[in-house]
Amino acid sequence: MKDIVVSGIRSTGNLHLGNYYGALCNFVKMQEESNCYFFIADLHALTTHPDPAMLHENVKNILAEYLAAGLDPEKSTIFIQSDVPEISQLYLLMNMHVGIGELMRTASFKDKARKQLHLDTHANESEDAIEKEIISDTSKNRVNAGLLTYPTLMAADILIHKATKVPVGKDQEQHLEMTRRFARRFNSVYGVELFPEPTSYNFGQASIKVPGLDGSGKMGKSEGNCIYLCDEEKVLRKKVMRAVTDEGPQVPNSPKSEPLENLFTLLKIVSTPDVVSYFEEQYNNCSIRYGDLKKQLAEDILKTTTPIRERILDIRSNDEYLRRVVAQGAERARESAARTLAEVRKVMGFKAF
Ligand code: ADP
Ligand code: TRP
Repeated sequence: MKDIVVSGIRSTGNLHLGNYYGALCNFVKMQEESNCYFFIADLHALTTHPDPAMLHENVKNILAEYLAAGLDPEKSTIFIQSDVPEISQLYLLMNMHVGIGELMRTASFKDKARKQLHLDTHANESEDAIEKEIISDTSKNRVNAGLLTYPTLMAADILIHKATKVPVGKDQEQHLEMTRRFARRFNSVYGVELFPEPTSYNFGQASIKVPGLDGSGKMGKSEGNCIYLCDEEKVLRKKVMRAVTDEGPQVPNSPKSEPLENLFTLLKIVSTPDVVSYFEEQYNNCSIRYGDLKKQLAEDILKTTTPIRERILDIRSNDEYLRRVVAQGAERARESAARTLAEVRKVMGFKAF
């Protein structure tokens, strides 16, 4: 039996190198040997980006980027989350088995709630203070319940196809852990073996974290430190050349500062091992010129992104093709989703009159 794979990306902006190396390029590889469902998480996007003017455009961008990066509608089921209402139904049923407390303790919830409350993200606001602010009557700002139940919706996305493997980046580990817990809980409450427990998957390697160009943290849409798959060559080169560095190694074999570590991490991802060892050596003997390193880095990133960018532009203008892809995807995804939902309803006691 083939593995069942599910993964999705929120439609909150264009895809960047973090999305590509953390998730999308694994999607492309996995579609060769598994039964894959890849979707655009437009409902999840509403938890932070409820913008009617941009909603469709954002979905279209991700769809074109999925296809341009190599997702093949003949090999995978490619669909839009909101086209499969069975997911929302399972989400509602699942929520009856999920605790408010465990949702409130989720790291991504606390992060995003802090932003919705306009609390200073750098001040180490205590967790108690955040929780108090959330439930306070006098708070001027509101944290939406969709954000709180984000992990339930993600679990519904995965469990509705009974997936066992979920290709995602490191930052999604906690959500997956919750999905496993919800699956186990559902099975044990009803004494069934309905849902398998899914794990994150990266071809036997540890999940990766693509760093940003600003010297710290991960590359992320909200961090403003991204290289996008659709960046024009000139823009991309400029971004790389402006990446944060340091004053250079003063003594041989010195440890690297975080910005440098980040540049080398990127180089390891996009360049060949001999290019990496060449610059490692130059760094270690203090002869490195960061300008050369950046030029090489930009060159090697462009080798991946240029053909993808060309295909994005091509595919984006082909509405007829996009329409066909999503219609076929929705049909296949609904078929599988309806099967699971019917089982869940039966187990929970729903009956026809
Ligand atoms: P963002 O953080 O930019 O909003 P998403 O949260 O929509 O991106 O992530 C979509 C997918 O891309 C997830 O599987 C996530 O793990 C992966 N991903 C995002 N940023 C990175 C990164 N910097 N390194 C590795 N994987 C990433
Ligand atoms: N939460 C994921 C992210 O922010 C997106 C996502 C939603 C997802 N549902 C999923 C990923 C199901 C894998 C499987 O990136």
